[in-house]
Amino acid sequence: MSDLKARIQGIRDAFNQALDQVEGLKALEELRNQYLGRKRGIVKDLLADLRTVSKELRPELGQAVNRLKNTVENALTEKLEALKSGESTGDLQRKMDLTLPGVAPELGSLHPLKVVNRDLIRIFERMGYEVASASEIETDFYNFEALGLTKNHPARDMQDTFYVTDEVVLRTHTSNVQIHLMQESKPPFKAIMPGRVYRKDADITHSPMFHQVEGLVVGEQITFADLKGTLEHFLKQLFGSDTKMRLRPSYFPFTEPSAEVDVSCIMCGGKGCRVCKNSGWLEILGAGMVDPVVFKNVGYDPEVVSGFAFGLGVERVAMLKYGISDIRMFFEDDLRFLSQFT
Ligand code: DAH
Repeated sequence: MSDLKARIQGIRDAFNQALDQVEGLKALEELRNQYLGRKRGIVKDLLADLRTVSKELRPELGQAVNRLKNTVENALTEKLEALKSGESTGDLQRKMDLTLPGVAPELGSLHPLKVVNRDLIRIFERMGYEVASASEIETDFYNFEALGLTKNHPARDMQDTFYVTDEVVLRTHTSNVQIHLMQESKPPFKAIMPGRVYRKDADITHSPMFHQVEGLVVGEQITFADLKGTLEHFLKQLFGSDTKMRLRPSYFPFTEPSAEVDVSCIMCGGKGCRVCKNSGWLEILGAGMVDPVVFKNVGYDPEVVSGFAFGLGVERVAMLKYGISDIRMFFEDDLRFLSQFT
């Protein structure tokens, strides 16, 4: 009887050892037959031998044999699963060479205008400017009238403006944001205003839709020297610390005095080349002191506040920075062009 108990333990140990050695499905099947075979399995034989045991001991030993049977069954099933999953990875490895180099996904890149726009904004943000915006569809008042471009003003070039109705236009510049900003806030403030603008104009340096960045600083005792210092710092940040700046007298209806701002040619450093038409200078910005008329139009007292404003074209800066000669390249979505800016 305890003879049988010892046998059960011995069988358990032998099975466990044998199972450890099994490496393939075929060997596992053989092991199963050896232990659980219907006709002549080891467990089957044990059950047969139970009959020779006394009635009192039979239930206990019967349970022990059943436990063994379950253990063997479970262990065999577990091993079968393990072998199967091992086998499938084995198959995979045979079908594909995991040591081959992978295919890198193609990376997109920022549009060159986006890059320049972002750089411009960053430079001013570092100087404490806030970013402001307004609608691209604008009333005559904000786009023209309030900026000193009265109805019959010669600077209103009818040819250039897209009219939606008599009183509504696609804004021709970002200067409209100046008016909204001044109406909505109290000085002092410094703001940068990037955005799309529209003009009826199309050739290799003009596009009917393009981008501008406007700047406006208003406070007490803001002077022309502030304007000059700010723009010089900005241009050195944008084009490099060797960049020189030059102001030429100019005219804008919303600034007085007004200036055209040039930088030393970024191609030849000022020596003279094709890009700067041998002048050594490139025109880059319009700027000036906010005209008292504009302050009056937004309800500010020009005796108390003063300020400066400027505006520049993003496409022009990008064309100069990257040496692009045709503005249309920006809008054609040609990957051969765009992928050069990764
Ligand atoms: N609005 C002008 C343009 O579109 C650019 C400009 C010039 C903006 C002088 C200004 C400025 O704020 O002071 O050509």
